[in-house]
Amino acid sequence: MLDTETIKKDFPIFSGKNGKNPASPRLRRASKLVYLDNSATSQTPAFVVNAEVEYYKKYRANVARGLYPLSVKATAAYDEARAKVAKFIGAGTREVIFTASATASSNMLAYALENSGFFREGDEIVTTIMEHHSMLVPLQELAKRKKLKLKIISMTPERELDYSEAEKLITKKTKLVAFTAVSNVTGTINDMKRLVLLAKKVGAYSAIDATQAVGHMPVDVKAIDCDFLFFSGHKMCGPTGIGALYGKKELLEKLHPGFFGGGMVEEVIGNDTFFATSPSKFEAGTPNIAGAIGFGAACDYLDNIGMAKIEKHIREITRYALVKMAKIQGLTLYSELNAEKNAGVISFLVHGAHPHDTSEILARHGIATRAGHHCAQPLVKAMGEYAVTRASFYLYNSKEDVDELIKGIGEVKKVFN
Ligand code: ALA
Repeated sequence: MLDTETIKKDFPIFSGKNGKNPASPRLRRASKLVYLDNSATSQTPAFVVNAEVEYYKKYRANVARGLYPLSVKATAAYDEARAKVAKFIGAGTREVIFTASATASSNMLAYALENSGFFREGDEIVTTIMEHHSMLVPLQELAKRKKLKLKIISMTPERELDYSEAEKLITKKTKLVAFTAVSNVTGTINDMKRLVLLAKKVGAYSAIDATQAVGHMPVDVKAIDCDFLFFSGHKMCGPTGIGALYGKKELLEKLHPGFFGGGMVEEVIGNDTFFATSPSKFEAGTPNIAGAIGFGAACDYLDNIGMAKIEKHIREITRYALVKMAKIQGLTLYSELNAEKNAGVISFLVHGAHPHDTSEILARHGIATRAGHHCAQPLVKAMGEYAVTRASFYLYNSKEDVDELIKGIGEVKKVFN
């Protein structure tokens, strides 16, 4: 297990006044902030905040445009951040495009594939019931625009992807297999290599939403051998407003961009434009420079602790929570129940309590969770629900945090009994 007391000290949110339960003393039981909403966003270590602040204070300038020292320094820091993010997922530096978020990456990919003339009417895209709306909705829109068929792989009663169905749905007609690495509702870790192989067999491209995976487990794009993979900075200790899209170098060179503007051209002549090479080709406009620098710092921070250790820690916390929660009467779990296959996400319902009420009562006790459909409505509906409460763990969570959650659920039960 990681030493969470020491790790928490790296995060300003857990120290001093910030680390106290903000709820009224009259209502609250716990005095500390117990942060269990990591699938929505992680907290940020001072190391990352400082990296961003340093850019604003000491060398703020635009990148790849100015020849004066401030701009040269900002450009070098931006390039270095890209190299760090690329190394973090085993990619080449030119294979990583900075975007505004995982959602921006997913939309960018859909437009780039469309603009490259990749789809013909009647072609098929195969995706899964586990998708976050950030993957699913851009695919739905793409399918409507290009008259494609969108096929959905379902989930087994054990909340795992139905791989035998995947084998049937992925056919010669499939052009793209797009799937999440980890469900943000059930925590299920999908077999990325297996799905990529199925795509390869029929000559389809593979695209992975790794937002809930990168920063939570080691992810190596070369070992997975996927064509595209995207994720965001804010779920892995980085800033909000920054994400990445990985693509194999030869594919990025072939793709036409999805967005257009300054900074991505080689030459503009009359009615025509010749685009720069990747990644500049895909980064129209002034990028989120501070965000990228913070993103790079987050990779350094996590690397320094060690991704294998972080993965193991999250698994142990998840195992501990699953065992304890399974013993609570009047509570149903909506997660992958095998901690080995769960990336640290536990969704649940307390019988007789609306999931929002559960989350609100937990909040009074200083416990931050999320309730709702988690931007994955088809998945939640497939489990027979409209909304669930979710606890999600990260490197700074301890078994004591889980104990607080269990006590908090006890308080919810008291109210609704
Ligand atoms: N995608 C984030 C979540 O699952 C916001 O909560």
